[in-house]
Amino acid sequence: MNIRDLLPSFGSTVDNIDMRTLSVSERAELKKALNERGVLVIREQSLSAAELLEVGRKFGLVEYTVRGDFQHPDVPDVYVISNIVEDGKPLGNPNDGFAWHTDLSFLENPTAFTFLYAIETPPVGANTEFASTQVAYDRLPPAQQDEFDHIRVRHSYEMLHATRRNAAPLSAEELQRMPDVIHPLVRTHPDTARKALYLGLNTSLPVGMDPEEGQKLIEDLMARTTINGPVYSHEWQPGDLVIWDNRLMLHRATDYDKKAYRRLMYRVTVKGERPF
Ligand SMILES: [Fe+2]
Repeated sequence: MNIRDLLPSFGSTVDNIDMRTLSVSERAELKKALNERGVLVIREQSLSAAELLEVGRKFGLVEYTVRGDFQHPDVPDVYVISNIVEDGKPLGNPNDGFAWHTDLSFLENPTAFTFLYAIETPPVGANTEFASTQVAYDRLPPAQQDEFDHIRVRHSYEMLHATRRNAAPLSAEELQRMPDVIHPLVRTHPDTARKALYLGLNTSLPVGMDPEEGQKLIEDLMARTTINGPVYSHEWQPGDLVIWDNRLMLHRATDYDKKAYRRLMYRVTVKGERPF
C-alpha cells in the first residue's frame, strides 16, 4: 500500500490496495491517514454493495440510512445515489448535496466517515468537491478562533428538506425522528485533538443570533473555507472509492446532464461521537 498527498494541506491518494482484503495493519494506516488528511481517494476497486458495507464496518458502526426510499434493495444499510429509473422506479436519490455540507450533521451523533463508491459515472460533471474546515479554522485570527469557540449552532433536517425541490413535506413521524440538534461551531477531532469549523449550508444557524446575521456568519465561514481555502474536485471513474472524515471536511456534488448520462453510486456512513 502506498499513501501520497493529494493536496499539500489535505487529502491522500492510496494505491496498491484491495479494500476487500484489508489487513488489520492496513486498516490502522488508513484510519490514521483519514484522521489526519480528511479524504482518501482509492481507485480501481471492485466492490459489491455487501462488500462496501463490510469495508464500512471495519471503520466503525454503520448508520441506518435516513431516507428509506433510496436503500439498496438487498443491502438496506447501503444508500443508493442514481438517476437511473428501472421499471418506473428510481434506483436511488438523483438530486442531493449540491450545497456545501457535512453528512448527517442534523443527528445527535453525526457521521464520522462517509464511503462513496462509483459503479457508473458520467464522462463529465458529477464531481465531488472537498474543502477543509480544519484548514479554515487554523487560518482564523486567534481572537476570532476564541469568539467562535463559544458559538453553538442549530442543525436542522427540516431546514435541509425545505430546500429539496418537488419533495413531499416531512411527515409528523419523520419530524419526530429527526428533531433539530445543537452542536458547537468549533469541534475538536477526537483522535488528533485538532479543531475544525462544523457547519453546513442550508442546514445550520447559530443559536441566539438574529437569523439574518447568523446566516451571514455561516455564509462567510463557508466562503472562507471553500473560496479562500483549497478545494479538491474529484472526477469519478467506475471503481473509485472515496472516504472522508466529515468532522473536518465539507463536500458538495456538482451537477451533470441527467438526460444524457447514467450515474450509480453506493454510499455507506459510519457514526461518529457527539461533537465537542
Ligand atoms: Fe453528502
